[in-house]
Amino acid sequence: MAKKRPFRNRLNDLSPKEWLKFQKSWFIHNPPPRRKDVMLHPAKFPETMAQEFVEFFTKRGQTVLDPMVGTGSTLVACLRAGRHSIGIELNSTYANIARQIVAEERDGLGETAAELRAEVVTGDAAQLSDLNLPIVDYVLTSPPYWDMLHSRGAETQRTRRASPDMDVIYSDDPADLGNIPEYDKFIDRLVAVYVGLKPYIRPRAYLTIIVKNVKKGGRIYPLAWDLARRLGEDYTLKDERIWCQDDVRLAPYGLGSAWVSNTFHHYCLQFRYQPEMQD
Ligand SMILES: C[S@@+](CC[C@H](N)C(=O)[O-])C[C@H]1O[C@@H](n2cnc3c(N)ncnc32)[C@H](O)[C@@H]1O
Repeated sequence: MAKKRPFRNRLNDLSPKEWLKFQKSWFIHNPPPRRKDVMLHPAKFPETMAQEFVEFFTKRGQTVLDPMVGTGSTLVACLRAGRHSIGIELNSTYANIARQIVAEERDGLGETAAELRAEVVTGDAAQLSDLNLPIVDYVLTSPPYWDMLHSRGAETQRTRRASPDMDVIYSDDPADLGNIPEYDKFIDRLVAVYVGLKPYIRPRAYLTIIVKNVKKGGRIYPLAWDLARRLGEDYTLKDERIWCQDDVRLAPYGLGSAWVSNTFHHYCLQFRYQPEMQD
């Protein structure tokens, strides 16, 4: 009888069963309730979900980069998962919230997290040369969804405008990619940020970019698809995982007159840095 070969895992620390579970191309993840200071930020992904990505694409002790870290979900996920992490954030208010959250998480975890790097850098992801970044093993990030936060019509924006504790836009800084009104220019600058990460990414490492297509002025701007195609010229586009939320209340957009979806899914685009496969 042929001997069963032992499972050799070069990518992560998961068992074959855990590995397979992550391979499904869609998943449902409803964020747990958020802290009040984190609610200030208009668009975060849940650290519980970030941890699943970090644990699939890295091993313990490896290093993860989030070039637009917001209030720090990626860094919290990394502390919990035993990975080192660095986050860059343009807005100093979010960067400070992230630092505080990371410090509290570290205290809560005690000795297991004591030796881990979890650093928040206030800076522009388009200007990396002064930041002294190390080589990283994985990039997990989510960009501004174009200038969608400037759109007055969006339902979530109406709620946020009525609340003094919530920001409506990230900042009015011209370096903030969420403030670029021209779609093509926004895509160009976003792609340039991700391509600019190359010198800091270990060859064969993965990148996950969480993004949504954007509705504006009665049409769709296919941000996720455009990014997949454009960035696929510099990194190998591997696939997507679709993150579905099924805890959001349906709104009656266009009821009785037009098709307007309630969009409760995001694309987690998977790329791999394989310099040997690029021209
Ligand atoms: C979708 S949010 C990221 C949220 C983050 N994943 C979290 O869970 O908190 C995008 C972030 O990019 C930041 N940002 C925009 N332009 C930037 C730039 N040029 N450099 C660094 N950060 C930038 C915004 O301030 C915002 O916090």
